[in-house]
Amino acid sequence: MSQRAFSPLSFYCALFMLLLFTHLVYASTSSPQVQTLNTKPDIINPKLPPRTLSSSKKFEGSSDLVSLRYHMGPVLSSAPINIYLIWYGRWANSQKLLIKDFIHSISPSAVAAKPSVSDWWRTVSLYTDQTGANVSRSILIAGEYVDSAYSHGTGLTRLTIQQVIASAVKSAPFPVDHKNGIYLILTSQDVTMQDFCRAVCGFHYFTFPSMVGYTLPYAWVGNSGKQCPEVCAYPFAVPGYMGGGGPGELKPPNGDVGVDGMISVIGHELAELSSNPLVNAWYAGEDPTAPTEIGDLCEGLYGTGGGGGYIGQVMRDRKSRTFNLNGKRGRKFLVQWIWSPELKACAGPNALD
Ligand SMILES: *[C@@H]1O[C@H](CO)[C@@H](O)[C@H](O)[C@H]1NC(C)=O
Repeated sequence: MSQRAFSPLSFYCALFMLLLFTHLVYASTSSPQVQTLNTKPDIINPKLPPRTLSSSKKFEGSSDLVSLRYHMGPVLSSAPINIYLIWYGRWANSQKLLIKDFIHSISPSAVAAKPSVSDWWRTVSLYTDQTGANVSRSILIAGEYVDSAYSHGTGLTRLTIQQVIASAVKSAPFPVDHKNGIYLILTSQDVTMQDFCRAVCGFHYFTFPSMVGYTLPYAWVGNSGKQCPEVCAYPFAVPGYMGGGGPGELKPPNGDVGVDGMISVIGHELAELSSNPLVNAWYAGEDPTAPTEIGDLCEGLYGTGGGGGYIGQVMRDRKSRTFNLNGKRGRKFLVQWIWSPELKACAGPNALD
């Protein structure tokens, strides 16, 4: 007979095909979601051998006993905060990129999954000056200077670091940025620094007019990868005295123990520099020459349930890399928490509430 355009049989056949097709489409579009569920990071809270440094300043948990007070000085409230980066020594491009990605992740305009670096900086932006102006939420890298010739040697002190800044200011087109500017000096792993590893992993202060020409806040952070990773790149390296048995060091999120360790120290110093740039704004304790600042209070805490040897609940991805914050370009970072003036406790966006 002649061809029929339509029959009940072909209708059911078509319906079946349609159902089969939609099922296949559904299955194929839903499979990435299934995968996403499978790759959701684990939450871990390992107990690790304690870090040896600065534990006296660490305050685990919350308390009214922490007398964090405002001492009437300025905070970095002008937006954006302009960072002038000084790379001292030998740096690989991949290391520079990692650190710059972290700094570029702080501003709210950075696109990142939650919990994000910019959510983490929100705690810092809760600090205000006496006019009620908050610490700025946006941070920009306004200039960079490379000092790969070690212009002031491979061993620096708290005073010669200011000569490094003075050299950078002379040779680079860094403007005198009194309103928003800060310097961040990063030294490579072959550079020693006074008190590095024994007492500090980084510090911040301000420059003296007699050395640099004017007063500007600065911070220094060193790459501890060769010198003392178990001190300054903790918990990606841990003190060895536990012997076997206990959990070992955690895997760094970007595969670079020294630089991944520096990221948390950079976060710590930037938070303190912004809330206490001239060391007369936000700190606890009666001694301004040894202030306990908003980063010091939470050193070694990265998540809920930290303290007493626990670092707090953090995430671990499929490759066992540990992190607690997301940054731009899909970057992951492990950054310590910051003391919140609202909660009167250490806080971070990866808190499990
Ligand atoms: C500024 O800080 C105050 C006090 O911590 C806080 O209540 C407020 O939400 C902050 N404002 C912004 C815009 O972050």
